[in-house]
Amino acid sequence: MQEILSSNNDNIINLRKISTLDMIICEIESSLNILSGKVQSYRENPSIKICDEYLLSDEENLFVSRLMRINHVGEICAQALYRGQAFACNDKNIKNLFINASLEEIDHLVWCAHRIKELKGRTSVLIPFWYTGSFLLGLIVSFYGSSINLGFMSETEKQVEAHLEEHLKLIPYIDSKSRSILLQMQKDEMHHREVADIAGADNLSYLSKMAMKIMSKFMTKLTYWL
Ligand SMILES: [Fe+2]
Ligand SMILES: [Fe+2]
Repeated sequence: MQEILSSNNDNIINLRKISTLDMIICEIESSLNILSGKVQSYRENPSIKICDEYLLSDEENLFVSRLMRINHVGEICAQALYRGQAFACNDKNIKNLFINASLEEIDHLVWCAHRIKELKGRTSVLIPFWYTGSFLLGLIVSFYGSSINLGFMSETEKQVEAHLEEHLKLIPYIDSKSRSILLQMQKDEMHHREVADIAGADNLSYLSKMAMKIMSKFMTKLTYWL
């Protein structure tokens, strides 16, 4: 029997005893909910009160919807990664840290999906592939121990922060809705990185950081089109 953290219907985190089989069933259920878009954000969408006063041209609209598709996939990956990292983590506090971060990533996921809809774009057709790959990656990383597990989280968030900065420069200034979402996401990712660092994140090797950058470049290029 193992202990895991899970959330009940009131979104309150509880600690309860469940078997490994229960954990697998929980993960399958969560992944199906995430992949089918049956998840709700815990916080208000930062763009919801912003009036769409300035209309983007068709070209800008398509461009921004593709960038938001990339961000949506990024959140799918973050969600799967942290769930995978939490799954095999034996330290209750660190497991809690991953679960808390993954809950905030759900907000990002929902906000990005909402913005894509407003822009009349579409999400990636490769979402199941990205989710499965990221979950397995998180699972593998968790076997390297807590400090590497946290180090991977810290480096992921650092790279996401830099990626969001790039997108904030690319998105037309008049698109306040998309910008407000990305700015809140950037703030949250910074917080996730700080939390991982304070909890004892190890600095990853240069090779690991480079591999993560190459993988993320590949993901962004492919998702822009697919
Ligand atoms: Fe995020
Ligand atoms: Fe994050």
